[in-house]
Amino acid sequence: MKDFEYLSEKEVYLDAACQSLRPKCVVEALNDYYFRHNSCGERVKYAWGEETDRLVEGARGKILKLLKLKEKEYFVSFTLNTTYGINLILNEIKPELVTKVVTSEIEHNSPFLATMAMARRLGVPRLVLRREESGALMIEGELGEIARDLGGMEPEVEMDFRGAVVVVNCAANFDGRQLVNLKEVVKRVHKDGGIIIIDAAQAMAHAHEMLEKTEADAICFSAHKMYAPSLGVIVARRDLIPKLEMNFLGGGMVDDVRATEYDLSALGNAEHVHTIFEAGLQAWGEIVGLGVAVDWLSKRTKADKQRLEKCTRELDGFLRAKEKVRMVGDEANPTMSFYVEGVDSHLLGKALGASGVMTRTGYFCVHYYLDKVLGLPPLVRFSLSYATREEDVERVKEAMKKI
Ligand SMILES: Cc1ncc(COP(=O)(O)O)c(C=O)c1O
Repeated sequence: MKDFEYLSEKEVYLDAACQSLRPKCVVEALNDYYFRHNSCGERVKYAWGEETDRLVEGARGKILKLLKLKEKEYFVSFTLNTTYGINLILNEIKPELVTKVVTSEIEHNSPFLATMAMARRLGVPRLVLRREESGALMIEGELGEIARDLGGMEPEVEMDFRGAVVVVNCAANFDGRQLVNLKEVVKRVHKDGGIIIIDAAQAMAHAHEMLEKTEADAICFSAHKMYAPSLGVIVARRDLIPKLEMNFLGGGMVDDVRATEYDLSALGNAEHVHTIFEAGLQAWGEIVGLGVAVDWLSKRTKADKQRLEKCTRELDGFLRAKEKVRMVGDEANPTMSFYVEGVDSHLLGKALGASGVMTRTGYFCVHYYLDKVLGLPPLVRFSLSYATREEDVERVKEAMKKI
């Protein structure tokens, strides 16, 4: 593919779940920013800054458009990555609104640890809900049956999200399983009066449609996993703001400051609401690159999608047909994890690397579920993307057979 023509024939990149390869147009946008209009956004009055402002505002709008969310109800802020976004929001929610913190068993350490920290800080229970094989979050029934970490609560307590802050992913980073009951979960949490934050790190590249018109309070994701430069994104509801107590502050967030007081720009002007999560100078060039990446992603053709599906099916089929290969999950997904009985996954990853096949090995920051719940040995992960070529699949098969 022309967009990734810098990749040599011998290099097979299967680590897109960590960070995608960037199409040339995205790298060119970064260069363009640094060579042509390197400037601080939303502050300066010279022409370079005006160009940066236009592109940054455009990027915010493109994200909302991609997710079919209305600017009247949602806003887009930039951060460092998914982890930073989740931690930031959890640290700003008014403590008096929170009686429990809820997450699920298949989470990346990013929400898994952040929810642990919040529960400890506030002295409230933390519940780790089970996920069905399908990826659905179990929200019906008795708490004792569906929660793993009751944190001192009585097992017979009915499941309810009153005073709950819920953080769950909508796609897992080891087999891509999705939160298939996303809409019901959001509805249910809101009906009970809770707050729900979606970790969409693994959904934005190839499954962002599942987030269209979501009513979640916030969605956090990493631009670097959706073909864009390294950057974090928070998409949040405007009505989340009254539930926050800002304690991470800095430049770019205020309209006025007195000796012991300040006026937050986000509260004074609806157009500046995004500044609520943007303390200090932002990664303007990376934001501009994200706008270009969203355009690029929106233009993926049926043929691009079919190629990704075909490569996924072939590699999945190849692995499942091997007697000693054990896959995680039952469905084919561009992100697939496995181990080979009797073979050390780290050594396998190293041998694949020596053949030009770039994969990941270990627990991919999902120690709790993969190691403690499923008791699996360290795994190998292949994560495919639009940069994956059909010839890559053959190369992987050859390398695996040789090893
Ligand atoms: C599902 C999921 N959540 C959160 C993260 C954390 O992303 P980042 O390291 O960009 O903050 C990842 C990273 O792989 C992920 O896959």
